Amino acid sequence: MKGLILSGGKGTRLYPLTYTSAKQLIPIANKPVLIRVIEAIRDAGITEIGIVVGDTAPEIQRVVKQGHEWGVNVTYIPQDAPLGLAHAVKISQDFLGDERFVMFLGDNVIQGGISPLIAEFARSDYNSQIVLTQVAQPEQYGVAQLDQNNRIIKLVEKPKEPPSDLALVGIYMFDANIFEAVNAISPSWRGELEITDAIQWLVEHNYNVHPYIHQGWWIDTGRPGDMLEANSLALEELTPVIEGYVDRDSQIDSRVTIEKGAEIFNSVIRGPAIIGRDTRLVNAYVGPFTSIYHHCVIENAEISRSIVLEHSQIRNIGHRIEDSLIGRHVTVHRSPIRPRAYKFTLGDHSNLGLLGDGGS
Ligand code: DAU
Repeated sequence: MKGLILSGGKGTRLYPLTYTSAKQLIPIANKPVLIRVIEAIRDAGITEIGIVVGDTAPEIQRVVKQGHEWGVNVTYIPQDAPLGLAHAVKISQDFLGDERFVMFLGDNVIQGGISPLIAEFARSDYNSQIVLTQVAQPEQYGVAQLDQNNRIIKLVEKPKEPPSDLALVGIYMFDANIFEAVNAISPSWRGELEITDAIQWLVEHNYNVHPYIHQGWWIDTGRPGDMLEANSLALEELTPVIEGYVDRDSQIDSRVTIEKGAEIFNSVIRGPAIIGRDTRLVNAYVGPFTSIYHHCVIENAEISRSIVLEHSQIRNIGHRIEDSLIGRHVTVHRSPIRPRAYKFTLGDHSNLGLLGDGGS
């Protein structure tokens, strides 16, 4: 089997955070979502992986290269415009050939691996296997309707009136019949060739499409709130390791990971949390569900349930920062007039001078 990862598109819903950067490269518990996807596919025994890339191709290639660091061989498949998930399959036909493949959306994070799923598909005579899970707001996803015997009746993309609460997770398995389907369908109301419509085409033409119901958590990291949620869930699964320096005046609880070269002085960290490589904490409080990436400085400041990307600095802030997503090379520091609460989505290279006296 081969793997196909979709990492094109523009990431508009996370502007300005992804204005200059691929959303698939935003780290969850200090590991980019795309790398998590590559590892999940590799752990299922698949090493030939195609990655569909769009405007952010250079950045993705800079990080993933040929994939050797993760034990896989990557082929890049450029997509001129984000014309839909089925369009991405269409342009990948040369790479995929006649082999069965797993397609994984590059911004999806799922609990556990996909090995059991792949194994089931490999053993079966299914033409396709889709992954479904119950969600609170099915209208935001592709939705499946099943009969009493768990057979698919129909699939619809982002329906105003969802026929069920079973959303399509961004992991799909296909054999070569999918190419006939993606060539047969027309663009949807949003102008995209929808993979949901292609699978519906398979169902209508009596191909065997098997629904697998996923029971653990799953997050499509399309929006900042989802990122923080995915970060919290991934941090809970992390096995803590302390590889950096912690001084005697600091209190670190048991569910904290401190990466190599990090230095912690007179600070309190409550897990689950992760402090990245070469990051410095001085007189700081880092609360649960926080990931601070590499080469950051947190000094005289408090932060919890947040993600801070690389090379950012937070200094002398009198109020706790919470539920925030802070981009790369950002500086947040104190300025003279008092505020009440802070909530940020700060883009790369932002420099935010905060109103506040830094007092109580
Ligand atoms: O996350 C699950 C949902 O993903 C499913 O429930 C939906 O049925 C499916 O259509 C898809 O919906 P989204 O609207 O969330 O897809 P999005 O446009 O966010 O694209 C998903 C990933 O695929 C993202 O990493 C970008 C990439 N992509 C997207 C398009 C439209 C491409 O590589 N090429 C494209 O043309």
